[in-house]
Amino acid sequence: MDNLMEKIVALCKRRGIIFPGSEIYGGLAGMWDFGPAGVLLRKNIKDLWWKEMVQLRDDMVGIDAAIMMNPRAWEASGHLASFSDPLIECKICHKRFRADKEDEILDHEKTHKEKANWTEPKTFNLLVEARVGVVEEDKQTIYLRGEITNGAQVNFKNVMDSTRVKIPFGIAQIGKAFRNEITPGGFIFRDREFEQMESQFYIKPDQAEGEKCFEYWKQNRMDFLLSLGITKEKLKFKDHEKLAHYAKAATDIEYEFPWGFDEVMGIHNRADWDLSRHQEYSGQNLKVRDPETQEEYTPWDIETSGGVDRLMLVILMDSYKEENGRVWLELSPKLAPYTVAVFPLLANKPDLVEKAKKIYIDLRADFYVSWDERGNIGKRYASQDEIGTPFCVTVDFQSLEDDTVTVRFRDSGDQERIKIDEISGFISKLINEPRSSST
Ligand code: GAP
Repeated sequence: MDNLMEKIVALCKRRGIIFPGSEIYGGLAGMWDFGPAGVLLRKNIKDLWWKEMVQLRDDMVGIDAAIMMNPRAWEASGHLASFSDPLIECKICHKRFRADKEDEILDHEKTHKEKANWTEPKTFNLLVEARVGVVEEDKQTIYLRGEITNGAQVNFKNVMDSTRVKIPFGIAQIGKAFRNEITPGGFIFRDREFEQMESQFYIKPDQAEGEKCFEYWKQNRMDFLLSLGITKEKLKFKDHEKLAHYAKAATDIEYEFPWGFDEVMGIHNRADWDLSRHQEYSGQNLKVRDPETQEEYTPWDIETSGGVDRLMLVILMDSYKEENGRVWLELSPKLAPYTVAVFPLLANKPDLVEKAKKIYIDLRADFYVSWDERGNIGKRYASQDEIGTPFCVTVDFQSLEDDTVTVRFRDSGDQERIKIDEISGFISKLINEPRSSST
């Protein structure tokens, strides 16, 4: 679709999904604020992830670690030494670019009449620094976490000692991460503040087991993306040729963005990198004893790591539809910010408003429900379509006679008349059916 990104950015602003961060001050590169509909979409993404990873599994527990950590943790994990990108600077306008992003460099060269002249690549650490302390002289430089992984690794022993988990088991976590990205861009694709959803799955160190577990998590995460309704043909695996400092093997799941296939999430075999290093730097024993052989070992970690923001962008792009001037987000009902919207046909008829308000209040016990009595019914449908609300319930004059309402389906525009006391069950059933037949 032409100009898909521009259309998504405009839609997100228009309908309260995503706003530029601190916009009234001119914004701040790489920062975004999520509006009333956006925050619900994100919550649904995170809730579905958490349900699969923690609620429905026997072998995974959740944590929520602090964003700021003792700086030694970042020395141990190698982020102070190796968490960097090669950076080059345009000598004409002094803008900096990642040396490995050829497209961006070529695009930039077109902005100058004279031949662009670049500096040699320099490494640039991506960790964002902060200063903590009450007295100026005693302030300590610390780092906002560049990935949420370390919070799980430093709590590995705490989790084992305080719960009944046994190897193999995993730690799941969702939280903010920060990177001083050289070129934030692609809307919410590459931000400086973003959110990650990660699992660290600990196993006995073994090459064959590690490979099996890695393959399991690759497929598991692909199935998760498919369960959100993302188009299968637009997803693929891509193995890393150049491995990060911690990884023994790494694969990305990529989505076909307008600029080509690019990373949505990663699956990494981190082996014993993290626990060994934290053991070395903290002096604490993070080894596990095999209950049968009594042998001590440092577990391996198979990680899955995905960005909430990046997945949100995929979901927005994949669900954006337009036809004959009508625009709608064909979101799975499980993801839609509001599951249902309720309207009185006319806002100036107290009987209709009162009946619709009661339905709205009753449905709120089970779903996120949107209320709208502005303008005409066509405009209300259009605004709900643009935030992907799958079902719109309208109270009309017939409702006053026979306690029925119309339910209008977002994707087809079809309508069905059902009894008021059946609305909740009707919608609950449709939420779990494939989106093409349910909406
Ligand atoms: N713990 C491993 C790790 O952080 P990564 O490949 O650097 O691995 C994992 O990041 C995921 O986090 C990416 O697949 C992407 O979805 C998301 N992510 C990374 N950097 C991001 C950024 N600057 N903005 C938005 N999302 C980002």
